[in-house]
Amino acid sequence: MYNSKIIGLGHYVPDNVVTNQDLSAMMDTNDAWITERTGIKERRWVKPGSGDTTATMGVKAAKIAIERAGIDKDDIDFIVFATLSPDMYFPGPGVQVQHALGIKTVGALDVRNQCSGFVYAIAVADNFIKTGMYKNVLVIGSEVHSHGLDKTTRGRGVSVIFGDGAGAAVLTREEDTSKGILSTHLHSQGEHAEELVLVAPGMGKRWVTDILADNNPDDESYFPHMNGQFVFKNAVVRFSEVIMEGLTKNNLDKEAIDMLIPHQANLRIAQFIQKKFGLDDDKVFNNIQKYGNTTAASIPIALTEAWQEGKIKEGDTVVLAAFGSGFTWGSVIIKW
Ligand SMILES: CC(C)(COP(=O)(O)OP(=O)(O)OC[C@H]1O[C@@H](n2cnc3c(N)ncnc32)[C@H](O)[C@@H]1OP(=O)(O)O)[C@@H](O)C(=O)NCCC(=O)NCCS
Repeated sequence: MYNSKIIGLGHYVPDNVVTNQDLSAMMDTNDAWITERTGIKERRWVKPGSGDTTATMGVKAAKIAIERAGIDKDDIDFIVFATLSPDMYFPGPGVQVQHALGIKTVGALDVRNQCSGFVYAIAVADNFIKTGMYKNVLVIGSEVHSHGLDKTTRGRGVSVIFGDGAGAAVLTREEDTSKGILSTHLHSQGEHAEELVLVAPGMGKRWVTDILADNNPDDESYFPHMNGQFVFKNAVVRFSEVIMEGLTKNNLDKEAIDMLIPHQANLRIAQFIQKKFGLDDDKVFNNIQKYGNTTAASIPIALTEAWQEGKIKEGDTVVLAAFGSGFTWGSVIIKW
């Protein structure tokens, strides 16, 4: 058995900055409400016609990660792509990345775990490497939310939160099992699937043929629905539990955490976790203020920025943790 370790990180966000002020021109909202409830000041939304899509942004982030990893694209043995906003209903963007990067015909897997997508994708990559099946795995999280949000007052409880962007990591084999990814922890609770959901188009409740036949402007089923307070209450509990689970598994206490990268769901959630674990400001990385919640992309974007800013050093204990639609949640404990 081996461990895996992250040897390259990259991110890409679209140029187009949308401030809270900009949103207040589209819907009945304001900077004070958004800042107080979420911490978000601005987000990036893909400009139509810019050519940025979930797949193309993922490719841009991946190129940077591969270059920084110091390997050739042909050394990649497998691709894992996490997103809830694929360019096409099927196939998923993993194969688009394989083609766009000109990688030989390696496997490409799409992970659909929303805000915990990147944590799930890392767990998949880690376990393929651990067993010796693959040596180098490219993991991407990328999202374009902006084309699918209800940007009217009706959708303001959701649309002010989400942003677009992509992040990527290259994982490779680590022979020293005291280093790299020490453990991953994944959970789900499907009874709450509809508390944070996009129903349509789906083959269960809202068929494409239904939507076309109804042609109903009041149909909200193709916009995301979120029971915000319920999500918030569950998130703070599950984040805490799954971080503790990871620490306990590795005989670590909370003082061992050098850097916590929480999924950027909401600044208030991150602050709650920080307080609960008694972590100093320099031990929790947040960039939701600039990007909003970019779902599967939020952890790799934050991890890349934290690393670029020199906030993660060799030997550090780094914790990734996420919670989101499903509900699904998870953590990754890394000895950097
Ligand atoms: C979404 C969230 C910010 C809403 O905050 P909240 O304090 O729960 O606010 P509520 O939904 O109770 O709404 C309070 C009021 O603000 C209004 N409101 C909602 N969105 C608004 C907006 N963008 N601007 C202004 N007012 C808004 C509501 O209509 C409501 O008005 P009312 O009291 O007149 O009915 C909060 O619930 C949250 O952060 N939840 C977790 C979300 C999350 O992390 N999701 C991702 C998980 S991965």
